[in-house]
Amino acid sequence: MSRYEQLQTQLRQEPKIWLVTGVAGFIGSNLLEALLKLDQRVVGLDNFATGYQHNLDEVQGLVTPAQWANFRFIQGDIRQLADCQRACAGVDYVLHQAALGSVPRSLADPITTNGSNITGFLNMLVAARDAQVKSFTYAASSSTYGDHPALPKVEDQIGKPLSPYAVTKYVNELYADVFSKCYDFHTIGLRYFNVFGPRQNPNGAYAAVIPKWVASLLKGETVFINGDGETSRDFTFIENAIQANLLAATLKDRQGGKCTDAATHHPALNQVYNMAVGDRTTLKSLFALVRDNLVPFGVRASAEPEYRDFRAGDVRHSLADTTKAHRLLGYEPTHRIADGIQSATRWYVDHQNLLQ
Ligand SMILES: NC(=O)c1ccc[n+]([C@@H]2O[C@H](COP(=O)([O-])OP(=O)(O)OC[C@H]3O[C@@H](n4cnc5c(N)ncnc54)[C@H](O)[C@@H]3O)[C@@H](O)[C@H]2O)c1
Repeated sequence: MSRYEQLQTQLRQEPKIWLVTGVAGFIGSNLLEALLKLDQRVVGLDNFATGYQHNLDEVQGLVTPAQWANFRFIQGDIRQLADCQRACAGVDYVLHQAALGSVPRSLADPITTNGSNITGFLNMLVAARDAQVKSFTYAASSSTYGDHPALPKVEDQIGKPLSPYAVTKYVNELYADVFSKCYDFHTIGLRYFNVFGPRQNPNGAYAAVIPKWVASLLKGETVFINGDGETSRDFTFIENAIQANLLAATLKDRQGGKCTDAATHHPALNQVYNMAVGDRTTLKSLFALVRDNLVPFGVRASAEPEYRDFRAGDVRHSLADTTKAHRLLGYEPTHRIADGIQSATRWYVDHQNLLQ
């Protein structure tokens, strides 16, 4: 039995109270679904900036009425300390996902991104610390590697940020580190590498690459690749990110308070971890994978993308070394990119009513 399977059994036996911020968004709503299916009690906080009521409605349809009754939603804004305090009251574990994603959005409007991603993050830290939660796991980002050329990316070798978004995610790590040192507060940052899966928003100028391409292909529109197609990413299916969040949040409790690796004496708490699979996929091969999965649903097998200029702020290659998460969190990814693309494309096919 993997550590994640053990944890799931344990949580079913002794349910906890979780706060998921950004619960109406892509990752947040998937965390909500996973936790409710484990019979956990969940408080959710969201201001619907980029999240949707239909994501919450879909989760309601996927769990039992008794499980749904374990969910309490607070419509609120992390830029307001009082909303964060209300959400954190009585909670065991915080999974902080609320933020404004997207590098281009941050280039277009750095002030609004800063408000949610830095002021909001600090409010959440203060509220969670004051509520004496057991742990604070937060969505960090692979964008923190910035211009550092090394591949694969190892947690302690970062470069300079390449966008305002990347600055905000790096500041999150700095604040979390200071809070853990100054207030004896337990944080874990998960540097997500291109997470994808059901409920990731396919619409709008700031949609992520996989949902955007699926939507374009299903609508018979041209797919554009920024650059020459050789840009690469470590695409991470949502199930892997859910596993990492649950393992990280419960780390101290699972290990009876001992959070140091026996072999290396490396502390496991108050750290950041790469959250990925460790597979490198170029945009060109991603396109072929997505297209081929959609051929049974009417997309032409001969469909090809159009190439255009590289996009400002984008990192050229991104590939994670996941050794640290494996060793210290017990993380074992269950889904490679091909499995994930199959599930995700199927979801978009079944939800074409959501495509604008
Ligand atoms: N998806 C990825 O590949 C990826 C990669 C790196 C990091 N991340 C991080 O993961 C987290 C979740 O991302 P996602 O992909 O689910 O995006 P998402 O946009 O689907 O979800 C973010 C949620 O946060 C909410 N939110 C934003 N600002 C808020 C505020 N001020 N108050 C309350 N709620 C607010 C939004 O309404 C939305 O529901 C974010 O912190 C993001 O930066 C995601």
